[in-house]
Amino acid sequence: MKINKNYDNLVPSYLFAEIAARTNAYIKANPDKRVIKLGIGDVTLPLAPVVIDALKKGADELGVKETFKGYPEYEGYDFAREAVAGYYQRNGVTVAPDEIFISDGAKSDTGNIGDIFGADNVVMVTDPVYPVYVDSNIMAGRKIVYASCTRENGFLAMPDDHVQADIIYLCSPNNPTGAAYNADQLKAWVDYANKNDAIILYDAAYEAFITDDCPRSIFAIDGARTCAIEFCSLSKTAGFTGTRCGYTVIPKELVRDGHNIHDLWYRREATKFNGVSYPVQCAAAAVFSDEGLAQIRESLNYYKENARIIASALDELGIYYTGGKNSPYIWLECPNGMGSWEFFDYLLRNAQVVGTPGEGFGKCGEGYFRLTSFGDRDNTIEAVERIKNLLK
Ligand code: MLT
Repeated sequence: MKINKNYDNLVPSYLFAEIAARTNAYIKANPDKRVIKLGIGDVTLPLAPVVIDALKKGADELGVKETFKGYPEYEGYDFAREAVAGYYQRNGVTVAPDEIFISDGAKSDTGNIGDIFGADNVVMVTDPVYPVYVDSNIMAGRKIVYASCTRENGFLAMPDDHVQADIIYLCSPNNPTGAAYNADQLKAWVDYANKNDAIILYDAAYEAFITDDCPRSIFAIDGARTCAIEFCSLSKTAGFTGTRCGYTVIPKELVRDGHNIHDLWYRREATKFNGVSYPVQCAAAAVFSDEGLAQIRESLNYYKENARIIASALDELGIYYTGGKNSPYIWLECPNGMGSWEFFDYLLRNAQVVGTPGEGFGKCGEGYFRLTSFGDRDNTIEAVERIKNLLK
């Protein structure tokens, strides 16, 4: 037998697995030190009360013959898809419930969507980039081109008519830089995709953090319905990192190479995915109720305040950073010209604070570092104090 040789082209470990391994090795060697983790973007606040009630009610229904449920529908229960469509409508965007697929998160769907595309497509990603887009396309053997995001372009790469791409991954607000596209910038990408017969894979996992008038969905842009797929997640919006639920929207009019993309994805899902459990879909629908939205807003504000605390410390230290406003991530320049992994080790050894080296997100991330605002408040304050003491 032969393995998929494309795996030989991957970096040896997934970025966050590598960070966890290095952190755990440090903790093992220094059991007396208290390490604060602001690396992976994992939430720390509990699920909202209305979400827990729905989860419990859903579980109770499974214990009664009359309300028991077996396999869910592949694309999700109607009530969950209607709740998501209602959420879009509140934000001024119309998508039909039957264009929505309930998923177990944006990571899986952005990683798996390539199943329906040919291996000879050219993939464009921005650099720095969420590693899932890159790794999953390396696994599939696709050619990847990189659109540089730098301080000069505000970490927002724009389309270039001289560069051909068939599949374009955009994440806005961006992981890791926190930069968010405005409507004109997104329109330029939509026009590029329609003109070049490309598809935009739009990751909106951080849309709930937008505070200005940047679009919260690519479908707020004219022309997006004929060129875009949107992925979203309740992980960061509502604390579902462990509960697992997200959604993917594929407009019915999206056609490429003579195929309806919505139908192809349905075919793929029906073959490889048995859906999200009933209690979790009940919990997801509860997020989008009036009460749910009010409750998750409190958690989002808590994380935003953490971001403000981190940002103000960097201001005090005179360290350049972006993000933290439309995003839970702060993207900073490593002090004193340090490299990303060098700064990772320096911070871990001397302040026992874990962040994410920018280099792990791509070449343009060299010399940068990401801190997350998803930590517990007291830990965030303590981490910031330790960083200030170390760098001032
Ligand atoms: C991150 O830290 O970039 C994210 O939490 C990773 C993820 O969502 O998979």
